[in-house]
Parts: sequence; structure tokens; C-alpha cells
Amino acid sequence: MQQSSIIILGIESSCDDTSAAIIKDGKILANIIANQQVHEAYGGVVPELASRAHQQNIVPVVDEAIKQAKINKKEISAVAFTNGPGLLGSLLVGSSFAKAFSLAMNIPLIEINHMQGHILAHFIEEENTTKKQPHFPFLCLTVSGGHTQIVKVTDYFKMEVLGETIDDAAGEAFDKVAKMLNLPYPGGPILDKYAQLGNSSNYKFTHPKVFNLNYSFSGLKTGVLYFLKNELQKNKNFIQENLYDICASVQKTIVDILLINLNKAIKQTGIKDIAIAGGVSANSELRKRLTNLSSDYNIFIPKMEYCTDNAAMIAIAGYYKYLQQDFASQNVTPNARMKV
Ligand code: KG4
Ligand code: ZN
Repeated sequence: MQQSSIIILGIESSCDDTSAAIIKDGKILANIIANQQVHEAYGGVVPELASRAHQQNIVPVVDEAIKQAKINKKEISAVAFTNGPGLLGSLLVGSSFAKAFSLAMNIPLIEINHMQGHILAHFIEEENTTKKQPHFPFLCLTVSGGHTQIVKVTDYFKMEVLGETIDDAAGEAFDKVAKMLNLPYPGGPILDKYAQLGNSSNYKFTHPKVFNLNYSFSGLKTGVLYFLKNELQKNKNFIQENLYDICASVQKTIVDILLINLNKAIKQTGIKDIAIAGGVSANSELRKRLTNLSSDYNIFIPKMEYCTDNAAMIAIAGYYKYLQQDFASQNVTPNARMKV
């Protein structure tokens, strides 16, 4: 007898992207993302506006995912949703929707940790293509707007944080420096684009002094702020005249800092499968430098669409929890500060 397929609906609403995805037996069928432009005018995510926009977007986004996947909603085996970490009001929209969907369709509910979702994005399979996947144990540098961690992954849901930021996240450093340079939010992708046109050795910024495998980015942010203040006193057009070089130099510093500890972790653990995940893994310099690391290692870099927030990563994590029959109850509540 042929076993029936497992179809997972994934819901992601932890920050400012409303996303729904369908995964069938580990293969992606649809991944719909609605970005929220409303925050641009404020230079950062406004939590109240984010939850309202999620409320408006969630039904059309799920509808579109089901349509694009060419499935009937009655075929869905379970609904997986992000239960944290993230903005509480945003998480509540996704979790309420998922609970209602699970009740209405009489299917299991699966809660997913957003950061584990970022890491498990490496296991998303595409129709008609075979991509190498990391073997356990592997190391994952998880770098997003809210997190910077080196994680040892020994199984799908067995993860240990070996080091993490003690203050700002790497994505936050990109965004805050971009704001100082008058670039629109989120600044990371734009800073990356301009950095590709500049000279990265023109300006030097000091590295933080942190112990073990931990990170710190708040000192770099202050360093750039004082550097700009100083230069602007001498030349009020300093930013406009040197924008590309400033972007390239800051980007190089952030990537250098990230890779120093990742290299330490590789040496300490002897692990050879190395992955990156999270929004900052879309960064061109980080991707290039990792690719060139060494042929001794197997490097895993996610497809661009699975770097920043998306529901495909939640659906694939849901698929693996479904295989373990690890389901949530209707009483589950979002946890804004959920740990890996
Ligand atoms: O994972 P993500 O979409 O959301 C969080 O969970 O935080 O990450 C968003 C972060 C933002 O800080 C954004 O500026 C950064 O990822 N980011 C980048 C790039 N693309 C996104 N940072 C540097 N270079 C990029 N190309
Ligand atoms: Zn994220």
C-alpha cells in the first residue's frame, strides 16, 4: 500500500513579514511572503503597526500559498507556526490563525522556534533538484536582525548555542550604521549593495574584546558614530562623498568579526560541515568569504529566499516535528524571548 503524503502549512509572523508556505514530503510547493512597507517611514519596525498588518495579510497570504501549491486545504496534514522569539503582537496573529486552522480542519498544531526554523531551512528540498544537505553534527552561524549565534546542531531539534552576542545582533549593526548613513530601513541589503562598489580597506574600525565564542556589536556602532561625527566636522559632505567606501569598510569589519569566532568554533569542535542562516546570511561578503574558507570544510549557504524571514523554514521544521509526532496543544502561547 502506498503511504499518503505529509503536507504541512507553515505560518511565519514573528516580525514584519507575513508568510505562508506549503511543504509536501519535505519538498517546497509554495512560499508566499508579504513585506510590510509601512515601517519604512519610521526607520524601524513599529510593533503596533506590524501586528495590524499581519492581521490584514494573513488570510490572503495563506490563500495564495494554497492556490500556488495546487492543493486542496483538506489535504493539509498539520499546521506549523512560529511561536517565538519575536514581537508578541506579531506572534499572536500567526499563532491565533494556526490554532483556528487546526481546530477548523481537525489537524495537529505544531509550534516552531523561529531560530531553529532558520537553521532547518537547509533541509528544504526543491522539486526536480537535489541539493547537498549538512550532516549532523554541523555548526551554524545564525545571524539575523535579533540574533547572532554559533549553534552546534546534533539533530533536527537538538541544538546547543556555543556563543552569542552579548548586546546587538549583526543585522542590528548593519541596520543602525545604515541609519547613520541616512539609508532607508532595513539598511542591511542597501549597505551590502553600496559596499560592493567601495574600497573596504579605506577605514578601519576596532574589533570588540569579548570572551569565548561570544560576540558584541554595540562598540562598533558607537565607533562608527564618533568616526562619522568627527569626519563631518571637517567636511559636511563626508558621507555623500565616501558612502561606498564607508559601507565596504563597515561590512568588512562585521564579516571579519563574525568569521573570527566561527573559525575558532570550527577548530574547537573539529566539525567540518559549516552552515549559515538568518537574514544576514544574504550578505554578499559573508557568502563569498565563507565559500572561499577552505576546501577542508563543507559549506552550506541557503538560497536567498530562505535567508530572510519566510514560512518555508517553519513548514520544513514542522515536517520534521510531524515525523516525530511532536504536536502542540491549543493552550500553547507565544514566547517573545524563546531560546534555541
Ligand atoms: O532573519 P531576518 O529576516 O529577521 C529576523 O529574524 O531578524 O533578518 C533581518 C536582518 C535585518 O537586520 C537586515 O538588515 C539583515 O537581516 N539583512 C542583511 C542583508 N539582507 C538582510 N544584512 C546584511 N546584508 C544583507 N544583504
Ligand atoms: Zn528571522
